[in-house]
Amino acid sequence: MTKKTSNSDITYNGKPLQGLALSSEDEVFRENTDEVLDYIRKTVPVLEDGEFKRWFISDHAVADGVLKDRENFRRDWEENAAEGTWGKDVAPMIGKWGMFDIDGPEHKRVRAPVSRMFTPGKLKLLIPKIEEAIDREIEHIRNKEEFDFISEFAVPMSTNFMAALLGIEARDLVEFKQYAEDLTQVFIERESENVIEKAGAAKEGLEAFFHKVVAEKRENPKEDLISLLTEEEKNPITDKDIVDNCVLMVIAGKVTTTDLLGNGLVAFLQHPEQLKEVQENPELYDAAIEEILRYDSPATEIPRYNRNACQLKDVHLEQGQTLAISLAGANHDPEVYSCPHQFNIHRDEPAHLSFGGGAHYCVGAPLARIESKIAFKRFFDEFPNAKLVDEKPKRKAIGGFGGYREIFVKIN
Ligand code: HEM
Repeated sequence: MTKKTSNSDITYNGKPLQGLALSSEDEVFRENTDEVLDYIRKTVPVLEDGEFKRWFISDHAVADGVLKDRENFRRDWEENAAEGTWGKDVAPMIGKWGMFDIDGPEHKRVRAPVSRMFTPGKLKLLIPKIEEAIDREIEHIRNKEEFDFISEFAVPMSTNFMAALLGIEARDLVEFKQYAEDLTQVFIERESENVIEKAGAAKEGLEAFFHKVVAEKRENPKEDLISLLTEEEKNPITDKDIVDNCVLMVIAGKVTTTDLLGNGLVAFLQHPEQLKEVQENPELYDAAIEEILRYDSPATEIPRYNRNACQLKDVHLEQGQTLAISLAGANHDPEVYSCPHQFNIHRDEPAHLSFGGGAHYCVGAPLARIESKIAFKRFFDEFPNAKLVDEKPKRKAIGGFGGYREIFVKIN
């Protein structure tokens, strides 16, 4: 085995590529993401980030190998979390995220009941509710001259989708919406006053809210995720597991869906010839959505911890290190994707890593695909002349999530 213990001395634009300089919180990284990631991948595909005490991986083959190796690489961060890794500032308030942060048999026990909701048969039952939610938001923007697609369409839409999945009753929607949006605002921006504290309070509120909903669904089950999870004879999970995973759904599924809608809108409007093709051949929406996910991934980075010493490229890692898998980096690796920075809905190349891989592969992926397909088709059928007001909308300055802070559009 080659032993290489430090390779952390590379710079970009005169600045060391360490800590926040490897995150969208940094303006240089945010504005030049593809270029910085290309440079890192070419120079040090397994880069030591001494500042955040982790290894930054931008190479597709290494990322894919780590994600698939369930035995050696885990998500559970209890014993060995690195200091300063992104998200650690919100971790004390949000804590562990349900199945997200556990591994092994315990993970399987909690994940299996949830995945029963994401089969084609069950998802089909949600389609009328998804369509209804989209129609409601379409009416909300129909007569607007100019509006912010993120705050006025994508954010409320992702909340509505979540409410449909969980089976939130109409009378509880306002309360649910407030909690869900306060909880997730922290992954959109950090400049509002007390945004982290508000998220902490919303998490507590949401937990109490879900405990109430669980009790109601036991009495009166319907076709939704919470009802399905309360079928005790089929699910060896507790009410706390159910509530924790519902909170996780809101965190994991809402911001990513908002970003998928925003990133897709910008990709389509910046490539009108491909949008036209999709509008004329709606069966191309499926391929277009996969390309949006690859080209501009809503989740840009996910962590892993190695349980055993290992060799990644020319780097030897002692046991117990933190790895930051750059999904955005892997998805733009030229070894796998030709002209990776071009948006091309006709690719015939390996799947992107935007939903992760291995044991924690996104459980909501089939739903995200269905929701975004219906939303884009409906939006562009209704507003075929939609245009960006600003050709380069403002990105979010948040690590780990890749999306837009605001996207002003004209539809009429
Ligand atoms: C565009 C949309 C989405 C993207 C890009 C996305 C991305 C991801 C990624 C990358 C992971 C893996 C994390 C890891 O391995 O460390 C993940 C896991 C997860 N996602 Fe998604 N997600 C999306 C939508 C959703 C939706 C709509 C839901 C729920 C309704 C959801 C629920 C989850 C859950 C519960 C996990 C944890 C799975 C586990 O730990 O076993 N996601 N997602």
